[in-house]
Amino acid sequence: MTIKDEVQALRVQIKEHNYRYYILNEPSISDADYDVLFRKLEALEQRLGEPIPSDSPTEMVGAPISQAFTPCEHIMSLLSLANAFDTEEVQAFHQRIAEMLDSDDYDYIVEPKIDGLAVNLRYESAVLVSAGTRGDGRVGENVTDNVRTIADIPWRLEGENIPDVLEIRGEVYMSKASFQALNQSQDLAGEKPFANPRNASAGSLRQLDARITAQRKLSFFAYGVGMGGKGWVRSQTELFECLHGLGFPVQDYRLFSNIEDVLQYYEAFKTKRSELPYDIDGLVFKLNDFSLQDEVGFVARSPRWAIAHKFPAEEALTTVEKVIWQVGRTGVITPVAVMLPVSVGGVMVSRATLHNTQELQRKDVREGDQVWIRRAGDVIPEIVRVVDDKAHLQRLPVAIPDVCPECSALIVQEEGQIAIRCSGGLSCPAQLKERLSHFVSRHGMDIEGLGEKLIARMVDEDLIHDIASLYDLDFSTLATWSGMGEKKITNLQQSITASQHPDLAHFLYALGMRHVGQTTARNLAEALGTWEHVRDADEAALLAISDVGAEVAASIQSFFKEAHNIEILQRLCDLGVRPQTCVVKARPKDHPLSGKRVVLTGSFEHIKRSDAQQQLRDLGAKPSGSVSKNTDIVIAGEKAGSKREKAEALGVKIVGEAELLAWLDINHKVATKK
Ligand code: IVH
Repeated sequence: MTIKDEVQALRVQIKEHNYRYYILNEPSISDADYDVLFRKLEALEQRLGEPIPSDSPTEMVGAPISQAFTPCEHIMSLLSLANAFDTEEVQAFHQRIAEMLDSDDYDYIVEPKIDGLAVNLRYESAVLVSAGTRGDGRVGENVTDNVRTIADIPWRLEGENIPDVLEIRGEVYMSKASFQALNQSQDLAGEKPFANPRNASAGSLRQLDARITAQRKLSFFAYGVGMGGKGWVRSQTELFECLHGLGFPVQDYRLFSNIEDVLQYYEAFKTKRSELPYDIDGLVFKLNDFSLQDEVGFVARSPRWAIAHKFPAEEALTTVEKVIWQVGRTGVITPVAVMLPVSVGGVMVSRATLHNTQELQRKDVREGDQVWIRRAGDVIPEIVRVVDDKAHLQRLPVAIPDVCPECSALIVQEEGQIAIRCSGGLSCPAQLKERLSHFVSRHGMDIEGLGEKLIARMVDEDLIHDIASLYDLDFSTLATWSGMGEKKITNLQQSITASQHPDLAHFLYALGMRHVGQTTARNLAEALGTWEHVRDADEAALLAISDVGAEVAASIQSFFKEAHNIEILQRLCDLGVRPQTCVVKARPKDHPLSGKRVVLTGSFEHIKRSDAQQQLRDLGAKPSGSVSKNTDIVIAGEKAGSKREKAEALGVKIVGEAELLAWLDINHKVATKK
């Protein structure tokens, strides 16, 4: 194919995607893939060196308008923003401006780039008279009636000396919460869910019946002006103040006088992005001073004085290769989608849990389907929805197995439970592997050097058949395995020996009883002192323990009723595993931390976090792993990250290591970190 042909083909292809995105609100490729196509076209047009026709997508903004709406002509065009995907592109943007202004003494304003759709609001004598979407930048769609249903947009502007004709520009968007609520009601009504808040906001604003728009909770942020705005204010910061004064919501912004600080702010913001209540897809950097903006000017479709520094896309489109069934430690069988690897939220993703059979059927994921996946912040990637095309309907729904895929034991579903389980118990190698991984984990027996792969091999080669056999390992066979050098073997031996007298709470947790997590294990240990007492405790004794309810009590009792479990405990004992008796120190009643929910975050110089946690517990405090509005105090060490930020946002009291040491009565000059 010649360059010319390729350029032609790309133009057609991109126009088609524009149509699907802007008119149908149903894109068939991800934003990231679209950006790749767009950039390829830009590069090829350059290489071709011919004049670029005005209808090439690279010269146009958005897409032609839908025939369903009355056109709305923009007297001053609505422009687009150039994108920067890396630091170099931002530096090049900065260099261009610095050269044009022959100086680098100016400020950049940095604003989040809202992922919604742009509208132009026309006010005459301070009254809203019309509202149009961006459309192709010159002509948009008249959505005045719909815009009037958005509570954030004033029908009448507040304040004085408002120009006779004033156009306000900004973004209509849908908050994450409204998006979720909308999709839930779509689901209940048997309607198709929206892929993301942007599509939902576009679909809701571009409704022919404004009553429907009114039901969808849309929001608005103002960030610019059109007609009447020129000469009225002198900078973007001044504009934000005015917009706020007129009655519009505006976003938080930051001002920087050099590009390095801008870039640093971008990096820090990237990790906080998911905490905003609405979706953003990057940050916009703009020259703050309007007279400097005028000096720098525009290129075809976008200003030279602004750039959008994009974040890694949180959504991606990929293909489900197969759905596998994973067997967990307690025998729960979970469907997992194995997908063609794709980058989403900045990491490569190739698996997503479908949670349970109900969820699998609700989403109706079939092998071979195209799916949208999403990974926001630290959230585990998930399949948002299937591309519901003809090909999907021709594929068969995933069959739910009736025997365990690992050991062929029958699958059971307990009454009232969503989960399906393998009935094979520890004769199921998958359950045994998971059980072993849990047993040796850090909060369990804390045995280092036993990764998932090694455990799997030990089980598959019959070196281990239950948790007790770890203390009776055939090291001479192990030594013949590839990758098992002398040092590894010695370390493993030492680590296993060192684990023989665990803290009782760790031991109880390591046993992997259903519903017995770390907290319950600790409560059991503190209340009953030895594992034999836990074994012998009757229901009443168990129910008297903090956090133990009927379900947990029943699960503990059934664990100790099982002959196989008792046999293993006996073998562990014979092989020298003796958990320490748990003695609870008398708790000072009036300690300031008594009963307080505390969260430790970051690293501490003079005390190990786990030791601090234990000592806080001894003082009657309740250490927890996550910050919520119920948290009383956050103790933040070095490099405290998102937990500290969350505490700040929630107004939770934050203290440092010094206060912690004082509470624990530790003189840090003598205390040494272990
Ligand atoms: S300024 C001439 N600021 O991004 C510059 N745009 O890709 C006009 N957007 O059409 C835009 N947040 O829909 C600006 N803080 C922000 C924005 C923003 C979102 C959208 C807007 C625009 C598109 C350009």
